[in-house]
Order: sequence, then structure tokens, then C-alpha cells
Amino acid sequence: MYRKACSFLLVLILTTVSAHAQDNIIPAPVSVQKTSAKFVLDGSVDMYVVTPDPQVRQIAQQFSGVLKERGYDVDVVSGQPATRAITLSLNASRDAELGDEGYTLTVDQNQVTLAANRPAGLFNALQTLRQLIPAGKGSGTAEIPGCTIRDYPRFKWRGLMLDVSRHFFTKEEVKQFIDVMAQYKFNTFHWHLTDDNGWRIEIKSLPKLTEVGAWRVERHGPFNSRPDPKPGEPATYGGFYTHEDIREVVQYAAERNITIVPEVDVPGHSMAALAAYPELSTRKEPKFVNPGTAFAEWYGDGKFKMLVENTLNPADEKVYDFLEKVFSEVASLFPGPFIHVGGDEAYHGFWEEDPSCQALMKKHKLKDGHELQSYFMKRVAKIIQKQGKKMIGWDEILEGGLPKGTAVMSWRGMEGGIAAAKLGHEVVMSPTTYAYIDYTQGDHSLEIPIYADLSLKKAYEFEPLPEGIDPKFILGGQANLWTEHIPTLRHAFYMTYPRAFATAESVWSPSSKKNWDNFVNRVLHHFDRFDAESLNISRAVYDPVVRAKMEDGKLVVTLSCELPGTDIHYTLDRTFPDAFTPKYTGPITIPDAPVTLKVVSVRDGKTVGRMISLTREELVKRAGR
Ligand code: ACM
Repeated sequence: MYRKACSFLLVLILTTVSAHAQDNIIPAPVSVQKTSAKFVLDGSVDMYVVTPDPQVRQIAQQFSGVLKERGYDVDVVSGQPATRAITLSLNASRDAELGDEGYTLTVDQNQVTLAANRPAGLFNALQTLRQLIPAGKGSGTAEIPGCTIRDYPRFKWRGLMLDVSRHFFTKEEVKQFIDVMAQYKFNTFHWHLTDDNGWRIEIKSLPKLTEVGAWRVERHGPFNSRPDPKPGEPATYGGFYTHEDIREVVQYAAERNITIVPEVDVPGHSMAALAAYPELSTRKEPKFVNPGTAFAEWYGDGKFKMLVENTLNPADEKVYDFLEKVFSEVASLFPGPFIHVGGDEAYHGFWEEDPSCQALMKKHKLKDGHELQSYFMKRVAKIIQKQGKKMIGWDEILEGGLPKGTAVMSWRGMEGGIAAAKLGHEVVMSPTTYAYIDYTQGDHSLEIPIYADLSLKKAYEFEPLPEGIDPKFILGGQANLWTEHIPTLRHAFYMTYPRAFATAESVWSPSSKKNWDNFVNRVLHHFDRFDAESLNISRAVYDPVVRAKMEDGKLVVTLSCELPGTDIHYTLDRTFPDAFTPKYTGPITIPDAPVTLKVVSVRDGKTVGRMISLTREELVKRAGR
């Protein structure tokens, strides 16, 4: 009797878990119909590649590897599928709505059936199937809930950018980053390979780029306030990718339906290149690879003055010879159609003072630094196009005019992208407002505070297609991970997820499917999936949001939480809050005494997330901001 009750309970638990599994898919599919069927995945099941296509077979093998690591002994076989089987096939006649990346997935009692027009669609179907199976090492048996899914992406560019210059990430780490993004149906990895703090790609014809440019002196403490290198100090922090490394990563990405867009950021952000070849700057002074020193004065509104020259000299023909060499090797390594050339935040001050730049401006009737940069970008576009590639750059490349056939990545809001689309350029939206996942995601007392914030909820509001813009020009959207404050892969995951889930859904799912309450509840489920895979993910969405203001001379605090169904409890007497200390019900007037406000979130009677603790003094400061 007792054993029976136990097994009944187990079935009940399994049923409860599996009944909701389809609801937890990120990004939300176009359509999901649930059924009461269950497919039991166990060692007796094999994966049948019905269409004899080598790419499909490779995708199936890869998925079989994932299942085996998790304890499900599923092999890839050919021939007539057994009664109970997983089958993969390419559609005999093209289903136009599905396009190249869409798929259908049906789970019934005996069969898991995946179909698509192209192997990329089958890859995506398997990522959905993966989310229907428990993460982490299982017991060798799992129930997959019955369903019929029809799914395809809203945009064709679904990207994440990783900056490997500010901090270096090894080839293996980059692969891990790519592996996880592919599971959420991203298809573009934008690899920010060069910047002031390190040149990370081997260029065989310019060996000093990596001999010198890939290494900087070791420094600790916050970026942008570190001491300059001492005379003769060895440069020991850094690294770079050889051509072999890059080919390996490109192939690894391709096997996961990911195209890599390499970025070599010019004419600004070039201090590492100039440390190797200072003759390519206007002053030709020796430079060092920046270890995170203060390098600029910021005046707000995007205006700044560079303290050290980090721009290439657009008036020097040697610069274009250099770029020919760099981009011909880059083009030979990356099979994708786009090369990103940066173009952002190029400081024109040194150009304006330089006689060779002034002479060039006079000769070509260029009236200011923007037009001089435009002259430079047009020459870069020719170099890129000569390699049979399309140029894409940050939205500054629009200023002063941009040649046809070049694409724009809009980061300073959506405006640059809107202007570019109106001029007939292809656009990728990655605005700071919704897509800068290096921004602080929770309370500044808990996180590494940087100069701007981006909560999960705000990231979820990302809508890449502005009203009134012809959709054919909007390729898609992307989130960017700048790594000044991200020294490790573990922290890169913490910053990327779950906000990249919000990006994934914004670029894959129909806008009618987007719903914050529904999304954030799916995110909670993926917290457990990340835990099961020992991956880091931020749970900042649990944390209370603490706002303070002065009202009639009194300090008043309001508390909220972005996660629906969450209560907030607090104390003012230095004790630790929990579900039994006072519950927040409205604005709190903080006594005029040296008190500390401590707050926690509570769900289902249990504290979740982290405690925030702020002294009255800190709250007064917050009220003044
Ligand atoms: C950028 O964030 N400077 C593109």
C-alpha cells in the first residue's frame, strides 16, 4: 500500500512537471498545442535520420551526445523507424511559412517527430526538444509531454556580442558561450575582437598585432581607474586566437546554426593596434595596450575627449595598406557575409590638430571630423567589398554619409537604425536602452554598479521593428556584452542570462506572444535548468527595487518587485527580515535616526533572492539622485 502510494505520488509529480514543460520554452514558439500523451525517453529509444543528409546526421549525432551526457542512451540510426522513436526529416516540399529556420515538432506516445525545410530548422527543433527534457544528469528515463509545435523566427539576425578585448576569453570559453546561446535559438555571434585593451586575432602579415597588441600589464581593481604601466613592466595579461583556433570556433558555431560576425573596431578603439604600430596614428608616439587606465574625459550626452590617441590616421595611406592586410585575413577566416568594422566613438580631436588630416580635408572638401571619418569608412567599405563581404558598423558610420550596401548596427538608441533604414540600409537594432547587458541589472548595493541600468523587465520591452519602418530593412536585434567589468566566463553568464532570454524572445517570437508575466515565470524554470548544468545566471529579478525620495523634509521609501506574485518584507531595527517581519504595503517613512532598512522578497511563504541592506545615509543619497 505504502509503495503504491509512493509510485502514485511519483507519477503525479512527473505529470505535474511534464504538463507544464511546453509552457516553459524560451523563446516562446509560434504555436503549441498540448495533448495528454506522454513519450517515455529511455535507452530503448533511438534517433532516426529519415532524410539521408550529412548535416542532419551531424546535428542528430550532436544531440545524441547531449542526451548521452545526461544519461539517456539514445543512438543515431538510419532506416525504417522503430515503433517508438525520435525521427528527423527534411520536408519533401518546402513549407514556405517555416522558412530556413522554422520547424514542426510532434510528441505523441510512440513518436517524437521533427521536420523542417532545412537542417537549421531541425537544429532549432532539437533545441525545443531539449527544453522539454529535464536539464542536467538524469536517471536515464524522462517523460516528454505530448504536443504539436509549429515554430519559426520573427527576425533573421538574432545576435549576442561578446567583447574579448577588455577581458580575454579562451577558445574553449567562447565555445561554451556559443553553445548556450544556440540553445535559445540565437544564430549570430558578434565577436568583438579588437579594442584599446587587447588585439585578439592573429594577423600573420602583421605579427606585432598579437606579439605586442594582445598583452597588457596585469592590473586589479575597477577598470578605467587603474595605474599606467611602469617603465619596463612586463605585459603578462592577455591572449589571442590563432587562425587554427578561429577556424575551430567558426566550425563549432556553424554546427550550432551560428554565423560569426567578426569585429575589428576602427578607426577608434585602436590603442592595442597602435601599441604595436604607433606609426599609424597622427602623433606616432609610443603607446601601450591599455590595462584599464582612465583614457578619456566624459562630458555627458556622448561627448568626450580622449587623453591618449587611440585612432588610426585617416590621412596616411599606410593605414589603408594595414587595413587591406587585416581584412583580407579576417575575410579568409570567417565564411559569413558580414564583417563588422566598428566605427563607434572615434575621437576626432587629434585629427583636427594634425596637418596631414587638415590637408586631406582641404583636398576633398571635408568640412569636419564626421566627414573625415565618413571618407575613412567609405574606403574601409571598399576594402571589405573587395573581399566579397558586406560591411556593418555601429551607427556613427552614418554620420557624414555611408555607401550603399553597408549595414548599420544601432546602439545609441533606435534612432540611428531608423535613419539608416529610411536611407535603404539594412539595420540590426542593439540599443543601449534594451540590449546592453553589461549594464547593472539589480540594486547597486548588490551588483557591480556601472553608469547605467538595465533590468530584465526593461530588456523584455525590446521591440526591434520601429513603427512605420519597412521590415525588410530590419535584419533583427542583438544584445551586447562589453566586458570591462567582466573578468570571467562565469560572470559573463551571470550578466548575459536571463536578460538574453528577453532578447531571444524579442527576436524570435511573434510580438503577440510576448507577455511579461508569462515570460518571467518561464525564466524561473530556466534558473533550475542553469543550476542543473552548473551555469551561472542572475536571479536579480527576485530582488526588491528600492526607491527613496524626500517629501516635506521626510525620507520616504517605496519598494516593489518586477516579479508578479512576490511580497516584500522589511525591518528597520537591524534584525534580519523574513516572511514573518513586517510586510510592505505602502510607502515607508524612515525615522530620523541612524536606522538601516533591510528588505527581502517572499514568495509562497519563503524568502527568495538576496537581502538588500541600506543605511539611512545611503537612502538619503539615493533620494538625491
Ligand atoms: C559602443 O557601445 N561603443 C558600440
